Amino acid sequence: MKRIASLLFALTLVLLLAACAGTPNAPAAPPESAGGVKTNAFDLEKGTVLLNSGYEMPVVGIGTFMLTEEQAENSVYWALKAGTRLIDTAAAYNNEAGVGRGIQRAIDEGICTREEIFVTTKLWPSNYNERGVDRALETLGLNYIDLMLLHQPAGDYMGGYAALEKAVSDGKLRSIGLSNFSDEQFAEVAASATILPAVHQVETHIFNQHTAMRGFLNQYGTVLEAWFPLGGRGHTQEHLGNETITAIAEAHGVSAAQIIIRWHIQDGHIAIPGSSNEAHIIEDHNVFSFELTDEEMQAIRALNTDTAYYPGMGATSEETQAQFEQWANEWGLNID
Ligand SMILES: NC(=O)c1ccc[n+]([C@@H]2O[C@H](COP(=O)([O-])OP(=O)(O)OC[C@H]3O[C@@H](n4cnc5c(N)ncnc54)[C@H](OP(=O)(O)O)[C@@H]3O)[C@@H](O)[C@H]2O)c1
Repeated sequence: MKRIASLLFALTLVLLLAACAGTPNAPAAPPESAGGVKTNAFDLEKGTVLLNSGYEMPVVGIGTFMLTEEQAENSVYWALKAGTRLIDTAAAYNNEAGVGRGIQRAIDEGICTREEIFVTTKLWPSNYNERGVDRALETLGLNYIDLMLLHQPAGDYMGGYAALEKAVSDGKLRSIGLSNFSDEQFAEVAASATILPAVHQVETHIFNQHTAMRGFLNQYGTVLEAWFPLGGRGHTQEHLGNETITAIAEAHGVSAAQIIIRWHIQDGHIAIPGSSNEAHIIEDHNVFSFELTDEEMQAIRALNTDTAYYPGMGATSEETQAQFEQWANEWGLNID
């Protein structure tokens, strides 16, 4: 009897191991941090999340899309002064130099040290190589970058990801990740990665909550980061004026923007609201002194309609290029 039980146990173990080995898209490395601590633990007391790279990342930051160099300098400086420790920029925003100046101003005034802040930038497909990484370091005026993302699933993104991995081993980058990739494209990169993406930055807001993608990313220990957390320029009124949001805001005596940002981080995604207004920047950082109830979280989750304002790229590289050129004209993106 005892022998049969042992045999059954051994058989179950073999079947379990076989099932794990056959999991589609299973990452090569376990989704645990260097310290062996489970990833994706949002600590809302500290305002950070532990990434699968072993580094801690603040869960609320300042976004700089559409800001001029001068606006970016001021916004970053105001954000650091307000206590924000996460900054998001990109080569395509043409404002990395301003971001670097804002950081330096805050460091010079003793507001923060370099080690206390977390700087993210992104490579554009035309620069998916080592030179792109070096250029970002030079333009930002930094000797390492906390997180670098591939901005779009276009061009040689496999080669670009390998360049990011090399830059990690060279000490130029700490964590690396992706932005705007489909699950299939993400899995393609992860399958040959030696360092799993720590973060995936995608358009995420109350009307586009990406619940399925979050489940998918969990198996890699990858954290979702929300761009357009307030709906993006041109759409914020639909979000901030939403009746469910304004009712919850009234109940807590805070603003609609604060309710939405709090929902993001309580639901497990990093939020990087963009702003060039100091009062908004202070407000957007102050989301740690109140908590949404389970009912309020559910009411906001129920607003989801899976509506993205910018859904994916064109299927062919010509269509993708045309889309990029349209964005360059519309938004002043630097796509060279
Ligand atoms: N990876 C990507 O492809 C991608 C794409 C887009 C964006 N991003 C990143 O994500 C960040 C966030 O996206 P976003 O800036 O485009 O959109 P967003 O954060 O959803 O919305 C920005 C808008 O919200 C307003 N706002 C901010 N705080 C507010 C407050 N407390 N009250 C009222 N209005 C407020 C801003 O106006 P004021 O300036 O007047 O405050 C601005 O018009 C970007 O800045 C960028 O860093 C990444």
